[in-house]
Amino acid sequence: MSMRIAVLTSGGDAPGMNAAIRMLVKVAYARGHQPLGVRDGYRGLMAGNLEPVALKDVDGITRFGGTILGSARALEFQEPAGRAKAVSALKAFGAEGLVVIGGNGSLTGAHMLAKESHLKVVGIPASIDNDVGHTRLCIGVDTAVNTIVEACDRISDTATAHRRAFIVEVMGRDNGFLAMRAGMAAEADAILFAERKRSEEEILDELSMLLMRCFAAERGKRRVLILKSEGVHVPTRTLVEKLTERMARFAPGITVRETVLGHVVRGGSPSQVDRVMAQRLAFGAIDALEDGDTDVMLGWDTDTDVGTATSDPRVRRVPIGEVLEETRRVLEGTSKTILGRVEQMNRASEVLAL
Ligand code: F6P
Repeated sequence: MSMRIAVLTSGGDAPGMNAAIRMLVKVAYARGHQPLGVRDGYRGLMAGNLEPVALKDVDGITRFGGTILGSARALEFQEPAGRAKAVSALKAFGAEGLVVIGGNGSLTGAHMLAKESHLKVVGIPASIDNDVGHTRLCIGVDTAVNTIVEACDRISDTATAHRRAFIVEVMGRDNGFLAMRAGMAAEADAILFAERKRSEEEILDELSMLLMRCFAAERGKRRVLILKSEGVHVPTRTLVEKLTERMARFAPGITVRETVLGHVVRGGSPSQVDRVMAQRLAFGAIDALEDGDTDVMLGWDTDTDVGTATSDPRVRRVPIGEVLEETRRVLEGTSKTILGRVEQMNRASEVLAL
C-alpha cells in the first residue's frame, strides 16, 4: 500500500545524513511511496514546512556533509503543544509515516510523537558523539573520527618539529568516544574523557608526569599528544596554563599548546563506512514502515538480545523506549558498553604513556 513518508534531520548534523536521505527517497519511490522532505527538523515540521522530494533532488548528495534538509534544535517540540502542531502538519500533508534522522534529543521527540499520534514514526541514529544506546555506531561517527585523526597527524608534524606538547580538544558533550577512538588511532600519549571522573588535580598530576617522562633525554620523545574530550569539566585553556606553570618550575623548555577542533569535526565528506551504513539503515527504515511498525529505531550492530532482526544481518529494529533507557545509562556512565570501554581505556593508558 502506497504511503506518504515524511523525512527530517534534527539536532547536530552528522556526515552521512544525506546518504540516508537519498536512500530513503530512492527506496520510497522504488516501492511506490511518496517521500516528503521536512525543512529544518522539528522546527520546520511544526511550521508545516514540508514538500515532496523528487529523485533528482537527491542525485549526487551522498558525498556531502551536513544535510540538504537543514537541521535545528527546537525546544518548542518538547512541549505537547509543539508536537500537536507537528501532528496537524503531517496530517495536512497526508503523511502516514515519519523518519527522524538524529541523535538522542531527536529520538526522544520521535518517541513522544509516536506515543501521542497514530503516525508511524521510525528513527535512524545520527550523531557524531556516538551517544545513542543500542547501536554500535551512529551516522557521522566514523567520519568525525577520521577527521580528528587527520588533524592530529598534522598537529603531530608541527609538534615534532618544535618538540612540543599539544592538547587537542574534540567534540563529545557527554561521551568521550571520539577522543578515545581517535586518540588510539593518532598515537596519543594520553586520552582525557569525563567517564573516568577525575579531578583537575589528578589530571594535572598525570599530565605533568607524562610530559616530564616523555621529554626526558632517556625517553627522547619529540611530541606529546593529549586528546581531550569536550565533556571533561576542566577547560582546555586552564589545563594548558597550569601545565605551563608547572613545567616552568620543574622542566623548563617544555611548551604546551592547545587546539580546539570544534565544529570542524562535524563537517566534511562522509567516509564510505558512514555512507554505506546510512544507506542500510535507511533501507531498514522503509521496511519497518511498510511492516506497520512504529516507535522503533534501526540500530547498527546492536547486541542480538536487543530488538528484532531485519533482513540485513547488521541492522536490528529496537523500540525507541529501550533505546532511550540505554542512552540514559550511556550518558550516566552505567551502561555495560561504557563500563567496558572505560576498562579497556584504563588498560591501554599505561601503554600509551610509555
Ligand atoms: O552533535 C553533537 C555535538 O556536536 C556535541 O558534540 C556538541 O557539544 C554539540 O553538538 C554542539 O552543538 P551546537 O552545534 O548546537 O553548538
